[in-house]
Amino acid sequence: MAKNVAAPRPEALPRHVAVIMDGNGRWAKKRLLPRSAGHTAGMYKVKTIIRQSSDLGIRYLTLYAFSTENWKRPKAEVGFLMKLLIEFLNQELEEMHARNVIFRTIGDVTALPQPVQDVLAGAVEKTRNNTGLTVNIALNYGSRAEIAEAARRAAQDVKAGKITPEEISEELFSGYLETSGQPDPDLLIRTSGEERLSNFLLFQLAYAEFYFTPVLWPDFDEQEYLRALEAYQGRGRRYGGLES
Ligand code: FPP
Repeated sequence: MAKNVAAPRPEALPRHVAVIMDGNGRWAKKRLLPRSAGHTAGMYKVKTIIRQSSDLGIRYLTLYAFSTENWKRPKAEVGFLMKLLIEFLNQELEEMHARNVIFRTIGDVTALPQPVQDVLAGAVEKTRNNTGLTVNIALNYGSRAEIAEAARRAAQDVKAGKITPEEISEELFSGYLETSGQPDPDLLIRTSGEERLSNFLLFQLAYAEFYFTPVLWPDFDEQEYLRALEAYQGRGRRYGGLES
């Protein structure tokens, strides 16, 4: 059995963790189960990582749940994922609220089925004045589309005379992104052995540490998260400068 991982040093925790939750399908296949069983098992690990992040005192957690490309999957699988989202919020909203979690979405949720939009809006509204961990669930999200939309909105503000082109700095521009006001992720985790960004937070991940693990998302438990945090804490972050 793998040894237990030590608790992370609280003073060196990432403020913002982003996760590409990958491998639900392969997890199910290995067990001769339908892909939907992998997604359900994955949903339980979403609950786990939210609780653990909140217990550890991490401030922001961004989870890639549905990309703009995921619409290409069979209709039944897309429908199942949408149902699972509703189930997740029905099961988890009270606990998240009790934990002072702020629940948010990024991505174009207006394309999701209306019942999903309603449940999401209710969760965002209920938790908006909380002050603990912020959980961003990325749904119908694509980073290039997000950046293009930010450029469009900045251009409109120039046209309306609210800002000048010269004022558009990296910082001002990041305020047009959906993560406006949040620190950039310090750590990106991707499970299942794939080592790609898949159009996730391209602007925001500029200086993040990347942690790729072969562990499939439904197997990514508390110990695996601690392992990722341990790896993060072992890295020297220099932001292009020299070791201090
Ligand atoms: C990737 O695995 C996973 C997804 C596209 C969906 C993520 C969904 C969940 C973790 C569960 C529900 C989420 C919430 C927020 C309730 P894959 O299907 O691409 O796996 P594969 O690459 O092995 O086929």
